[in-house]
Amino acid sequence: MQKSEDGELRSSPHPADQPLEYLHNCYPFVKWAGGKTQLLVELDKVIPSEFGQYFEPFLGGGAMFFHLISNRKRIFTAYLADLNRDLITSYKIVKHNVQELIQLLKKYEAEYKKDPSERYYTLRDTIRPKNDIEKAARFIALNKTCYNGLYRVNRAGIFNVPIGRYKNPPICDSNNLKNVSQALRYSKAIIQARDYRQMMLERAEKGDFVFLDPPYNPTSSTSNFTNYTHYGFGDDDQEQLASIFRKLDNRKCRVLLTNSDTPFIRELYSDFATNTKEVSVLRAINCKASKRTGHKELLVRNYDNDTCF
Ligand SMILES: C[S@@+](CC[C@H](N)C(=O)[O-])C[C@H]1O[C@@H](n2cnc3c(N)ncnc32)[C@H](O)[C@@H]1O
Repeated sequence: MQKSEDGELRSSPHPADQPLEYLHNCYPFVKWAGGKTQLLVELDKVIPSEFGQYFEPFLGGGAMFFHLISNRKRIFTAYLADLNRDLITSYKIVKHNVQELIQLLKKYEAEYKKDPSERYYTLRDTIRPKNDIEKAARFIALNKTCYNGLYRVNRAGIFNVPIGRYKNPPICDSNNLKNVSQALRYSKAIIQARDYRQMMLERAEKGDFVFLDPPYNPTSSTSNFTNYTHYGFGDDDQEQLASIFRKLDNRKCRVLLTNSDTPFIRELYSDFATNTKEVSVLRAINCKASKRTGHKELLVRNYDNDTCF
């Protein structure tokens, strides 16, 4: 093992960069609440045609990043961040140690097939990873087999989601993991477990593309899941984010935000009403399947359509 420039452990020797034509399509390697895969058709219509660096500070499964990297055959620097440490550790391991990760995931997959419930709860409650590769493998295996791919921790920060009902969950999707690993290295991805405020204000410049996909503003007091981390994301956070949106706008970054369609969010972004679009989406995280339809979301941007992809 060696340490990279950004202090991450990686295999030695590091795979050499290959020509761009070898870059394969890839997609999120975790299932994520509020993931944007199903909105990509709509998002695609409003992605700016040109941009410098790319920022995604509420990364989650990274559907937008993987879409960009799969469809834009050009290298760009990507700043990717999320407050969820285990998630970010997994990205770093996929980037630098994908072969070791795949070996471990294959082992977990074989064990899971023999006795799903026993293996799930042993992995969740008993196994304590000894290094970041084991941490990432545990995180991905639990994500693929837990209820709805939900991430929820108790007050002590311990993951406590029950097992999901799957027949044959793909715990080790080797091909996609290898493609994601390559994409993360190509894009010169800087991946950090940080609050979005720190990452954005330091680095974003004129002409950069900033995609903001924060935890949703709940549409009712009981309806939505917003606690990806034990910090939560309340109205104050939404207000602060809106003021950062305006700062980035003043700096002439191209900013695209998604959120639920609520009067509060419409009011916060009323300055950008002409560039606000309403789209329909199926929300995955609701305990009642019957309530997983017909939600409206907003795409708010600070630039016009004629600059699109
Ligand atoms: C709606 S999800 C993003 C989904 C993602 N776009 C996708 O396609 O999967 C919101 C993400 O914000 C992260 N988050 C919550 N509070 C944060 C904060 N203060 N700073 C950075 N990330 C935060 C959560 O961990 C979660 O992954």
